[in-house]
Order: sequence, then structure tokens, then C-alpha cells
Amino acid sequence: MGSVTTQSPDPRTSTDRRATTDRRATISLFSRLRTAEGQADPFPFYAELRARGSVSPAPWGGHLVTGYATCEHVLRNGVWLEPDSKWREQQGARTRWSAPSSREISRTLPALNPPEHTRVRRSAGTFDRSTIDRMGHQVRRTVDDLLDVFRERLEAGEADFSALVAEELPVATIGAWLELPSADWPRLRELTHDQVFTQELLPNASQLARSDFAMTELRAYFLQLVRERRGRMGDDPVSQWIRTWDELEPDQDKADEAVYFLALFVLLAALETTATMLSTAALHLVEDPDRWTLLAQQPDLVPSFIEETLRYDAPTHVISRVAGQDTVLEDTQVKAGEMVHLMVGAAHRDPARFPDPDRFDPRRNPNHLAFSWGIHYCLGAPLARLEAHTLLRHMIDRLPRLALVRRPERAPRVAFRRLMNLDVTTA
Ligand code: HEM
Repeated sequence: MGSVTTQSPDPRTSTDRRATTDRRATISLFSRLRTAEGQADPFPFYAELRARGSVSPAPWGGHLVTGYATCEHVLRNGVWLEPDSKWREQQGARTRWSAPSSREISRTLPALNPPEHTRVRRSAGTFDRSTIDRMGHQVRRTVDDLLDVFRERLEAGEADFSALVAEELPVATIGAWLELPSADWPRLRELTHDQVFTQELLPNASQLARSDFAMTELRAYFLQLVRERRGRMGDDPVSQWIRTWDELEPDQDKADEAVYFLALFVLLAALETTATMLSTAALHLVEDPDRWTLLAQQPDLVPSFIEETLRYDAPTHVISRVAGQDTVLEDTQVKAGEMVHLMVGAAHRDPARFPDPDRFDPRRNPNHLAFSWGIHYCLGAPLARLEAHTLLRHMIDRLPRLALVRRPERAPRVAFRRLMNLDVTTA
């Protein structure tokens, strides 16, 4: 007689079982997403995530939001706050939020909530029309110089557009604006690449250690810069911030610290994001010869091409917020203090918002969330656009048509996209 195995009845309801299966599937999805292979094409993963609903549970706690309208609602609505220093302290000493780099970044502008955010944002000033016009001359000169070097390399065979142009333009632009010695730019750029992990979605311990080290170096560099600048005040933004903070803050050490946080964050915010946008735009341009023809015939489409680049594959794919009070997001209850991750990269492909969302359409000129929305809307958006428009126009004018030599490699992350190379040759 064969043995009979009796299965004890599973006490969990089918809803519980479904939740466990979804949780496991989401964990597996994120482990694939954070690899270089996953980053090469994250959009099928996002489609899987969206299939679970516009708001779904994050396996590590909190919620994932993939719907465009819901992401925009969260960014515009004052109920949702930045994970500020108080919130980070509440998460406990053994969490990523207690890492020194996390504590340091929590004192910069994008991690502040009102009323502190309002005060610091006002002190930062803006990239108004006349500032952008002034910076335009410098950006055009830098682009010309970089394209000269790039053309020379191209004559010898293939050239890495990312290393020679896209990574160089943002650091040269911000470095010159802040009046930082050009000998320091390569080191500062490397430190910003390392520091980004503390702002990543799921950093591991060694990545956090790299961020901690980078942040210590950056702190020493910028505090020293502020002290030196006091000795030779001029019209540069650091001097202007010193004047502003001397009026707001009677204690000079505290004023210096406030200026340090502004200078630090401008550097962090301006380098990798802009470099990724420039490389991604160049990739879209070279991978389809029709796009090059279109822009050569209609250079007025350059701004629309850039907005579509920012929608189609934004430099930042995740923006996080915490609930300031118990609330409901769509049909999901969110408790005060719980985090939501706005999956901007996914929201930008939401078919409810963008018709035919997986098609790159240079004429679409879309609205998007690449620069966020609401009170934290990116301060540097006009500068990023200036760099991108100048570069694309000069590429079309000055370069021979280019072809991709190989698919670019991507950094293994989730929130901050990064192309490690963009190897091209003459078409
Ligand atoms: C393509 C390039 C860029 C992208 C995609 C980008 C993206 C963003 C995003 C998503 C935020 C908001 C984060 C949040 O809501 O929590 C932000 C904030 C910010 N960005 Fe940018 N950024 C870019 C370039 C720049 C540049 C060039 C600068 C400075 C020169 C800059 C300075 C800032 C600052 C100061 C904030 C904080 C604003 C606040 O919290 O009030 N960004 N950026």
C-alpha cells in the first residue's frame, strides 16, 4: 500500500498568501533592478510593479507609487514631508538613516521641511534670466572646448562621449560659477559619485561607508572654502551667501556652516544628475539616425528633445517622502511617519498620463517630474536646461554624425541613474 501524505490545512487566507507572494516577487524584482543588467532596461520591471497597482507595499516597509497622478499629488501636497533629521533620528541607531553621511545630508536644503526649508531656500537665490544669460557665455565656451577635444579623439577611432563631454560640462560649469580651482574639479566629481549612495534607495554597508568618507572630505573642503572666501569677498555666489547669512545669523560659525551646506548641496545636486541627462540625450540622438536628421533640420526642437529625454529616462528614478499625519493614498492607509517612494521612472511611463509611453517622441514636449514638483522643485533646472540645449545645438552644428559602438554600461543602483560610458564613432 502506498503511503498517503496528509497536508495540514494552511491557516492563512488566500489574501495573506497573495501578499506573501507579491512581497517575494517585489524583493526579487528590486534585486534584479539594482544590477547593471537591470539598469540597462528597468522599464519592464516598472511595468510589473505597476501591474500591482498605482500604490503597492514596499517589502522593507512603506509604499511604492508608480502612478503619475499620485506621484504629482504627493509632491504638491503639504501633508507629505521630506525625511528630515528628526525623522531619521526616530528610525534608530542601527539603520541606514543614522550613517554620518545621512545625518549630514539631512541638513541640506532638499531634506528640510518648512519653516526651515522656506528660510534656507530664500537664502539660496535663483537662477534668474540674467544669471542664466551670464552663465550662457561660459557654457558655450566650455562646450566648444570639450567638443574640440572630443573631435580629436574621434579622429583616432572611437571616443567616450560620457567621459570626455557629459561628465566634464557640469563640473566645469558649477566649478567656474562657484570659483573653485579647476585642479580640484576631478576630485570633487569623484567624491560626488561616492556620496550619492547615502541618497540611494537600498544602499549596502560598504556603499554607505564610501558615502561617509566622501562626505567627510567634502565637509572639510567646503568649510575651508567658506573661510578662505571671507578673506576675498567678491560677486560670486559663495560670497553672496556669506553676506546673506551674516545678516540672518549673528554667530559666524553657524553662518559659515549654513553657507557650507548650500555650496555642498549645489555641487552634489548639479554634477551627476546633469551628466546623466547629457549622456542620455546624446544616446537618444546617436542610436536613431532619424533623430539627428530631425534636429539638424529643426533645431527649434532641441528643448522638446530634452524634455522628452527627461521624461523617457530621468536621471533620478525615485523621490521619497514621509507622511506628516495619518492619511490615505488612493485606497491605501498610510500612517504618520511612513515612507512613500515615488517611482518617477515608472510614473513617466504611465499609460494613463502619456499616450504610447514607451515611444521616444522628440516632438512630445511633455511635462514631467524629473525636476520634482512643489516646494522642492529643482533650483538648478534652468541651468541644467541651459547646458543641455547648448550641448545638443553645438553637437548638431559641429560634429559629424555619430554611431554607437556598444551599448553603454550602467551603474548598479536604483534611484540615481548613471551611464558609465558612451562609446561612439563617426557614422
Ligand atoms: C538634469 C539635472 C538635474 C536633475 C534631474 C535634478 C533633479 C532634482 C530633483 C528631483 C530635486 C528634488 C528632490 C526632492 O523633491 O526631494 C532637485 C532639487 C534640487 N536641485 Fe536639482 N536636478 C538637476 C540639476 C541641478 C542643478 C544643475 C542644480 C544646481 C546648480 C540643482 C540644484 C538643486 C537644489 C538646490 C535642489 C533642492 C531644492 C529644494 O529642496 O528646495 N539641480 N533636483
